[in-house]
Amino acid sequence: DKPVTLFELGKMRADGRKISMLTCYDASFAALLDRTGVDVALVGDSLGNVLQGQKSTLPVTIEHMVYHTECVGRGSKRTFVVADMPFGSYQESPAQALRNAARLMAAGANMVKLEGGAFMAETIHFLVERGVPVCAHIGLTPQSVHQLGGYRVQGRSEAGAAQLKADALALEQAGAALMVMEMVPASVARDVTASLTSMATIGIGAGPDCDGQVLVLHDMIGVYPGKKARFVKNFMIGATSIDEAVENYVRAVKDGSFPAPEHCY
Ligand code: KIV
Ligand code: NA
Repeated sequence: DKPVTLFELGKMRADGRKISMLTCYDASFAALLDRTGVDVALVGDSLGNVLQGQKSTLPVTIEHMVYHTECVGRGSKRTFVVADMPFGSYQESPAQALRNAARLMAAGANMVKLEGGAFMAETIHFLVERGVPVCAHIGLTPQSVHQLGGYRVQGRSEAGAAQLKADALALEQAGAALMVMEMVPASVARDVTASLTSMATIGIGAGPDCDGQVLVLHDMIGVYPGKKARFVKNFMIGATSIDEAVENYVRAVKDGSFPAPEHCY
């Protein structure tokens, strides 16, 4: 199969074909995502929780992210690889962000992801102009967990929803091509998605009306021992292999049956 490109992801958004994304941290699972039809492999800093046993993503370093991006890059032939910029690796300045983004791109990423709203627009513009595609991330941004006061739904109030909408527009104008929305009421995510003209939205706990969906791999195969969030579905139930579970996830994202109302806020 042809490699998934940013151009193809833009066409999928324009055609109303859903984008399927899963996290991935190593070459074996990268090959699995490749052969099961996942569009985007996200080397998420959730590897702090999932692989390292940390309580948050804050201790994850750029060296950790480079190592896992290399692993995933070697296993991926078709999927589009996005790598998270870890806490403290991009907030200081656009120059700092470019220096660290370049390490992830050299390691095998096709795009970098960073957390934050309109205040990150200048940095995103700086990266995109210099050839680094960017995925934004708003709503529940885990690197800000101590600022947000826990892992809670974001944008529930009218003011909060308006803020998310303004942030999304600023990020789109800055040149972000994708944007993750995490733990946002489904109605708000639908409004935000409808208000955009080019940037594709990828939801996690953000309802069915985003342009795509993402889950943490270890959550959706029931391996992560932590508390299961409302938005997680265990796709191993009813599947006889991990390949089949991931294929079922891809199909459910594509046909709009995941997320169901019980996974939404
Ligand atoms: O690190 C991660 O896994 C993420 C996804 C939850 C979007 O950022
Ligand atoms: Na992340």
